Amino acid sequence: MKGVEPISALTAYDYTMARLLDSAGVEILLVGDSLSTVIQGNPNTLPVTLDQMIYHCRCVVRGTSRALVVGDMPFMSYQVSPQQALESAGRLLKEGGVAAVKLEGGISVAPMIEAITRCDIPVIGHVGLTPQSFHRMGGHKKQGRSNGDIGEPGSRARVIEDARQVQAAGAFAVVLEGIPDLLAQEITGLLDIPTIGIGAGAGCDGQILVINDMLGMDESFNPSFVKRFAEIGATTRAAVVEYVGAVKNGEFPGGAVSQLIPNKTDKKRARI
Ligand code: KIV
Repeated sequence: MKGVEPISALTAYDYTMARLLDSAGVEILLVGDSLSTVIQGNPNTLPVTLDQMIYHCRCVVRGTSRALVVGDMPFMSYQVSPQQALESAGRLLKEGGVAAVKLEGGISVAPMIEAITRCDIPVIGHVGLTPQSFHRMGGHKKQGRSNGDIGEPGSRARVIEDARQVQAAGAFAVVLEGIPDLLAQEITGLLDIPTIGIGAGAGCDGQILVINDMLGMDESFNPSFVKRFAEIGATTRAAVVEYVGAVKNGEFPGGAVSQLIPNKTDKKRARI
């Protein structure tokens, strides 16, 4: 689709939402490790485990008939060695049922991407703001703004080199997260594989958002790169307030009250 039409991607974590997103025509469903924050309530993506990711992958795959489902590789499921990376990616396909995996990093994980793609498991890379590097970055901070050399993680030159190495290692696409729009546009022009941006401007080959963010499920989370396409958080709260009120004042379930009493003689039940 690169150069032909923009790619739409969203995260999904469960069956019901996957069915809705799939039927709406989104091309890629990522079972993101963001489920650590938006589903599990953790402060960052570090705690979620491979077993938990596999469980959510299975739920999403069951609700999907046409989109490409991609399983995110969680923190410490691939960083140790190429062999560990291959085993974890294999589990996401065999047990989770996904058709591709995503992992964060560039130069440092190129050997892991090579090992996985050598076994015909398609890989999406992820460079720039990589949430699993939360502590090294000092939080979820925009990357690619400094002019240091490629030895400096997060520098402009390093993000470019990370993206190049992800492609050279065999990834079929790369997520560009939290980098300046112009840098994302430059990388998109340099690479043959598609770039999928989040907080990286309009110059990418596609876009991805966390589904909870674009539906406005957390009304307090409002970063500049997110466009809310609905206000599901406010709508849900209003609906539940109405429900609670209706239960309290007897409007719901409504209708006449009926009582069933046992008839001891013929075991039939009489309605009074
Ligand atoms: O985990 C995730 O949701 C992601 C996307 C934001 C790209 O990695």
